[in-house]
Formats: sequence, C-alpha cells, structure tokens
Amino acid sequence: MCGIIGVVGGGAAAPVLLGGLRRLEYRGYDSAGLALSGEGRLLVRRAVGKVAALTERIAQDDPEGPFGRWTTGIAHTRWATHGAPTEANAHPHLDRTGRIAVVHNGIIENYRQLRSRLEAAGHRFASETDTEVLARLIGDRHQGDLRAAVVAALREVEGAYGVAVLCADEPGALVVARKGSPLCVGIAEGRVLVASDPAALVAHTRQVIHLDDGDVALLRADSVDVSGLDLSPRHRSPDELPPDVAAAERDGHEHFMHKEMHEQPESVRNALRGRIDLRNGDAVLAGLGRGEDGEDATVRRAILLGCGTSLHACMVGEFAFEELAQLPAEAEQAAEFRYRNPLVGPDDLVVAVSQSGETADTLAAVKEARSRGARVRGLVNVVGSAIARQTGRGVYLHVGPEVSVASTKAFTGQVAVLLLMALRLGRSRRLSPERGRAMAAEIARLPELVERVLERESSVIRAAERMAHSEHAFFLGRGPMHPVALEGALKLKEISYVHAEGYHAAELKHGPIALLTEGTPVVVIANRSPVRDKTLSNAEECRARGAGLVAVVTQGQEGPPGAWADLVIPDCDPLVATVPAAVALQMLAYHVARIRGCPIDQPRNLAKSVTVE
Ligand code: F6R
Repeated sequence: MCGIIGVVGGGAAAPVLLGGLRRLEYRGYDSAGLALSGEGRLLVRRAVGKVAALTERIAQDDPEGPFGRWTTGIAHTRWATHGAPTEANAHPHLDRTGRIAVVHNGIIENYRQLRSRLEAAGHRFASETDTEVLARLIGDRHQGDLRAAVVAALREVEGAYGVAVLCADEPGALVVARKGSPLCVGIAEGRVLVASDPAALVAHTRQVIHLDDGDVALLRADSVDVSGLDLSPRHRSPDELPPDVAAAERDGHEHFMHKEMHEQPESVRNALRGRIDLRNGDAVLAGLGRGEDGEDATVRRAILLGCGTSLHACMVGEFAFEELAQLPAEAEQAAEFRYRNPLVGPDDLVVAVSQSGETADTLAAVKEARSRGARVRGLVNVVGSAIARQTGRGVYLHVGPEVSVASTKAFTGQVAVLLLMALRLGRSRRLSPERGRAMAAEIARLPELVERVLERESSVIRAAERMAHSEHAFFLGRGPMHPVALEGALKLKEISYVHAEGYHAAELKHGPIALLTEGTPVVVIANRSPVRDKTLSNAEECRARGAGLVAVVTQGQEGPPGAWADLVIPDCDPLVATVPAAVALQMLAYHVARIRGCPIDQPRNLAKSVTVE
C-alpha cells in the first residue's frame, strides 16, 4: 500500500528519496511525490503514475538546482483511498502557508468533521484527501516548534497514521509519528532515514528502530529523539535488519513473482527448519507455548483468521486441524470477525495468518480476539510487524521477503506451518505416534515435492498457451483442494486480469455451469484423494458442455479424458498435496499473465500490504 521514505542529512536527499520510492514500488501505488526543505523554503513535486514519471519531472524542472543540494526531504507513493489518483491528490500535502509538508499512510476517520471545521475557518482545500486535512491542522497548530504542532494535531485525529512532516523553518529536522501504520527509522553514517518498509532503507543501513503505536520522533542528521504523544521521552534501541531484507533483487528472473515461485523449495525448507520431530512424529513450535497456557488438550476450538491468499491458507488449515488434531476449526475472513460479535473466549485458539503482518482487517480481528480473552497466536512472515507484536506469541514463517504483489511463497509457507501446528495439536490430543510419524515424514518431503513441480514448468507453459486468450476460467477442487482452487483463481485474476472463479467441484452444477461455453477453460484438481472419482465426474460434466480441461493430477494416475493438459504433481498425502498443487497453479497464472503481457509484479489497483479496512 502507500509508501513513505524520508531523510535528513548526509548529502543530497532527492536521489535517496527516489531510490527509496523505487524500493517501495512493489507495494502498489498510483502516484508519487516528494518535498525538500532548504534555504528557508520548500520544493514539492508530484506526478501521477510511476516513480519514473516523478524522476523525469524533477530532471526536467531542475537539472542542477536544489534537488541536487538540499539534504532534508520526504517522499511518498500513494495508493488512492480518499480521492482519485490525480496529481492534486498525490502527497506531499501542504499546510495553509505552504511551509509545512506532510506524507501520510493510513486513514483519518474523522477527516470530514475536521475538514468542515477548517473550511469554516477559511481554509480552501487543494485536494480531496484526508492527508491535506492533517497538513492544515498541523500548520494551524504551528508556533515555531514542529514536533509540538504535529503532536497537537494528532491529538485531534481519529484513525490510523504513519506520518512524516517537514517545515521550511526547520530544514535539518523531520517529525514522524505512527499509529496503526508501520514506520521505522534507519540510522546511517551522518544521516537518519525513515520509511514505512525497511526494504526502502537497506541501501543505506541495517540499523533500524521500529516505532511503536503512539511514538513521535524528532529526527536530525545525528539524533533520534522518540517521545509519546504527551511528549514524555521513550527509549527505543535499534535492531539489526535480517540479511534477507537486503537480498530482494530479481536475480535474473523476468519478474519477482517468477523468482519467488522458484524460491519455494528453499522458502518451505526454511519455514520447516528445526520444526519437525520425525522420531516422535511431532512438531516443535516453540512460539506456540506448551503446557498450561499452550495449544494443548484444553483447546476447545481453533479459529484461523486471514484475508485473501492468507485466508485460503487458513481454509487448508481448517481441514488439517480437524483431520489431524480432531479439533473443531473455522477459517474466517478477518474483516468479518469483529463486526459479528464473535463467540470466542479463553478456550479458543485464534491463529492470525498474514504475510505482511500489517493487514488492517487481520490486525483489528486480533485485537478483538484478545479483548475476548482468546489464546491468540500469529503466523506472520514480516518480523516485528504489527500483528507479530500484537499477538506476542506465534510462529514466524521465515520465507524471506515477498516482493511481488501476488503472494506465492508466503502461501506455501503458511500451509506448511499450519500442517505442523495441526500435527502438534494432534499429538497433544488423540493423534497416534504412528500416524504422527507418517505425517511428519510427509511434511518433511515438501521442499522436494515443490521442486519436482517446478521442474515441470514447460508443461505448465503449454497449458497456459491454451488458456491465455480466454477471458473467463473456472477452478474446481474438493476437500482441502477447494481452497487451493480458490487460490488458483485468485492468482489468475489478479495478475492476468482473466475473470476466474474458484468453486467446490460439486457446486458448479448448481448454477455456474450455465456459464460454460465451447472452450471455456476449467482447471480441475483431481489428485489422489478419497474424492478423486467424484471430481473426475464433475470434470466430465464440464467437458460434455464444451469446456477445455486442465487437470492437476497425481503422478502415475490418469487425468480426465480429452483434457487440454495435465499438470502432474508427485504422489503424497492429500493434505500435503495442497502445497505442490498450489505451486502448479501459481505457475499457470504466471504464464497466462506473461503471455498476455501483464505487469505481473505490480498489477493494477493492487497493493502489497493492505493497511486500510
Ligand atoms: C494475493 C494477496 C492478498 C493477500 C492479502 C492478505 O496474492 O497477496 O490477497 O494475501 O491482502 O495479506 P497478508 O497476508 O499480508 O495479511
């Protein structure tokens, strides 16, 4: 979602800001802008579209001027929420005097009231954004001390924010603050930076301070002064960024998505590393706790919360928890959870599943579950993210940074760890050591199973060539493959813009089959499982109506007759098979999108981390 980068000190700010914005591009955005302060004034430039458009604008406007000299600045990539993606709505926004500039992530919920009040006091707004309201509020509170003005304004604001503010009168300073929207401060030689995502800092430093909600910081080239909104000092010490944050380059792949798909043998291995106890048929998940407050025999029910791809992983987890742990489990769309008075309490285990750890809907659901006394655990990829901190306990995915907007290695890592959680819970309950050992051994095969699917990329390309010119597609699966079908459809629609629907294979004949015409692609997951024959019958119903079948099948088994193509996965346990099947469908979506010439890593309208509800 929107991205922030700011810098003070240590040479020209503009190249640092533009470089940082480029590192944030993967999050998805539709306009960009920056502001610099120096020589008692501000310079602001904004552009609709890519960071390259902003860079070009600056190069044209000012080839040798202040953009090459001034050392304090803030910049932003905006993903439109309030107001269309226009230059007027792009950040930074200015106060009434034009001497204070603000970039902001998040949403100010009471902005309408604040805007009406400011308009009544004579303000004339240049944009439709909630951020301009904040900029003007800060300006009105400014009496020579920028931090005091920011704090005074934020006390009037309801909602979420990560903000960075600069003022023409204080050229060597930035004021930043966070509530519900991530910000971290980077400490480099002679220079201090701030960003909404550490990926924007790695070119300069690995020493970062993760700000907490309610923190306000005054940044100068040689100091970071953190306080609360009441201006009482807060001590924050820097952490070292893990090396994998710095390693986010494409490494010769055409797209990050392709690289990330091919990293999955390794990323799944990392997610499983040290967590499988083959001898006892158990899993070792220290972050979950054990014993009196752990996820043991006293848990009454599990609720798995997530959004999008992470929700699909939760749905696979639901099957695993019920089958292996004999524990009633429900996968729930996180956005729905807190608005329906959920019946959860201390006997419930709530697992919040999120790649970014910043998804607003999932974070809100975590807070709700905690307030009701549930045992809340996180299954999160980004270390130190809001959900990881809110849950306090849980399991990190360790799949490394996911740059492509479409989630791939996070999904396979999530499913792998949910299988381990189910195994651990099962062994605390009724799962026999023999079944535990068999399952542990199957889960341990995952990296190799994924590797073998990736080796068959050329057969996926052939299937993609058949599908690439259709505007509609269906994905069918049963049991734990139903969520995999949903995930396959989501991947295809988000990166190739083909309208794709995922259905339970038995559901198609209850209505959607009316949409099938000659050549409509139907991707059917018919791996070895107790319901394979039923799925094959459903596939036949589609073929009889002219559909072009692409089948995911287990090695050694026949696909449906007359299929366009079979995507073969190795033989394995049907729960474990969800991972290789998902990888095959990721590749299918990728190659359809590539053939159609789509911007795979940054699809239109999408953001990597959705920090608004
Ligand atoms: C799809 C995708 C999204 C995310 C969803 C939740 O490829 O990436 O559907 O899965 O926005 O994000 P996280 O997992 O960061 O909570």
